[in-house]
Amino acid sequence: MEFFGRPEFEAAAQAVRGRTRHQPRVGIVLGSGLGGLADSVENADIIPYDQLPHWPRSTVVGHQGQLHIGELEGVPVMVMRGRAHYYEGYPMSQVTLPIRVMQLLGLEIVILTNAAGGVNKSFHVGDLMLITDHINLIGMTGANPLRGPNDETLGERFPDMSRVYDRELRALALKTAREADIPMQQGVYICLAGPSFETPADIRFLRLIGADAVGMSTVPEATVARHGGLRVMGISMISNIAIDDPDQEAETSHEEVLEAGKMAVPRLEAVLRGVLRNLSAAL
Ligand code: HPA
Repeated sequence: MEFFGRPEFEAAAQAVRGRTRHQPRVGIVLGSGLGGLADSVENADIIPYDQLPHWPRSTVVGHQGQLHIGELEGVPVMVMRGRAHYYEGYPMSQVTLPIRVMQLLGLEIVILTNAAGGVNKSFHVGDLMLITDHINLIGMTGANPLRGPNDETLGERFPDMSRVYDRELRALALKTAREADIPMQQGVYICLAGPSFETPADIRFLRLIGADAVGMSTVPEATVARHGGLRVMGISMISNIAIDDPDQEAETSHEEVLEAGKMAVPRLEAVLRGVLRNLSAAL
């Protein structure tokens, strides 16, 4: 099936409701190498993805495939330990089904995290980058998750994308990072289909068009979340520096992506906790 719709979204949402005592308000998607954060969720109801109808399972090492629904800093959260990607072969409407489930469960905010290659020359491995905006390159080339019939009960046909990454949430993330002395880069994330990494010429092209970090996720989820009216925050963990010269003695590997993740988890956790602490008063 290419176009998953309300019946599939409702079935998955119903299955989640039946498996948890909590009423989550904030969704958190943990990217490659960042899944360990899910262990911090308190009083967690843990649901393996394969027990949820239509839920895409991640086939990638470093993506465990469990929902952890519980509390973090007093905020009821729904944490996705691992996500599915378009390159795994799922249609876009299934890749983004978890975001629709969040929408149907009444979540107000989703925090998207990922591991990304650093395109901006001033970035270092292990840096955190607050996403200020994205380039939907994968969508421009046809794979937009909103392609297909539009369900007006979920969102409008032509949703605005001028402010995808919520200004207030970004300010909270920056404030938290500053107070905890955690360096935070900011920049534009670009999503490619993958799964092959980029050529050096690809990287020089991406830099030229304004990308600071490159990856294979997040943008479809952010697009669907905005369509559905959720507020979005995004943080990339720079897992490797993208190679922009074919004569350079270096390669990009998934192992290096996972290694860098481990290094950055404590800082990412501190930022997420700070944001949630600030939100707990407001929500
Ligand atoms: N390119 C694309 N996706 C990635 C990278 C990269 O260098 N690192 C982590 N995800």
